[in-house]
Amino acid sequence: VTEPVSSDAPLIRDISDTARWAAWCRAVESERPDALFHDPLAKILAGEQGPAIEAAMNKGRGSTVSSLVVRTVSFDTMILDRLAEGGIDTVVNLAAGLDTRPYRLALSEDLRWIEVDLPDLIAFKEGCLADAKPLCHVERVALDLAEADPRRQLLAAIGDRSKGSLVLTEGLLLYLDSALVTALARDLAAIPAMRSWLMDLLHPALLPHVVRSWNSQEAGSATIPRFAPEGGAEYFRPLGWSLHHWVSARDEAERLDRPIAPAGPALSDAQREAARIMNTYVRLDRSEGQEPLPPN
Ligand SMILES: C[S@@+](CC[C@H](N)C(=O)[O-])C[C@H]1O[C@@H](n2cnc3c(N)ncnc32)[C@H](O)[C@@H]1O
Repeated sequence: VTEPVSSDAPLIRDISDTARWAAWCRAVESERPDALFHDPLAKILAGEQGPAIEAAMNKGRGSTVSSLVVRTVSFDTMILDRLAEGGIDTVVNLAAGLDTRPYRLALSEDLRWIEVDLPDLIAFKEGCLADAKPLCHVERVALDLAEADPRRQLLAAIGDRSKGSLVLTEGLLLYLDSALVTALARDLAAIPAMRSWLMDLLHPALLPHVVRSWNSQEAGSATIPRFAPEGGAEYFRPLGWSLHHWVSARDEAERLDRPIAPAGPALSDAQREAARIMNTYVRLDRSEGQEPLPPN
């Protein structure tokens, strides 16, 4: 199933088109002889829109592929490490987009994997993957996470069926305003089964650069990056979540040999250290024995 690119519509029509872009990046990596992962479904899911967005958003400024690939590999590792620790029967992938981990990671067949995204995206994905066989039990839920009551009802229903859940928000929080991130964090903390939460976080010093590089002719205001909290993971502590560990995207890019920063003059030690924290992949665990602070 592919959706034709219409010439007069903006290229990124809505936030869900960023998922097609991400899928295209995973498709490109999958075709490398030294691919770090193989996502054979990604090319189909990216459709025509995925490569068109990558080409338009990066005119002459490199590529998004490496940073997306580094994020994918890092999340793969953090997910598998958390599952190996035990106590998790359910993965809740909020804003799952066109991610296909249930089809490509070595997962236990009794793991429940719940994907949540906006209705059109879920319908498109269901259509594309109708004949594909996941390695674990997959459920998809069409839901706008900005709608408080349906969001809370869904999380409560997942909590009723789970003894331990791992939550993923990969490539989501950046696009949300802080009130929604705060509400989501509180709602997750209110469900005891929600044990760990993996997210990517941008440093506030990097946000203006990311916003500038975002080609606003191609992307509507709904997709402008906006959430990059002062204090990083500390933002979530009063909301019931404690930092377990973080990984630097820059370090991971070096380790994996997928450069994400343009080559330039060598950095001083201080500059290097500052660069390490600009973009991070973070694991939070629910703070045991500490109630989240009530909303103001
Ligand atoms: C950049 S994509 C990331 C998708 C996927 N996690 C990945 O890493 O490939 C952002 C995703 O967030 C979803 N999204 C954005 N706002 C949402 C909302 N309010 N409710 C549900 N999904 C949302 C979009 O539909 C899109 O699939």
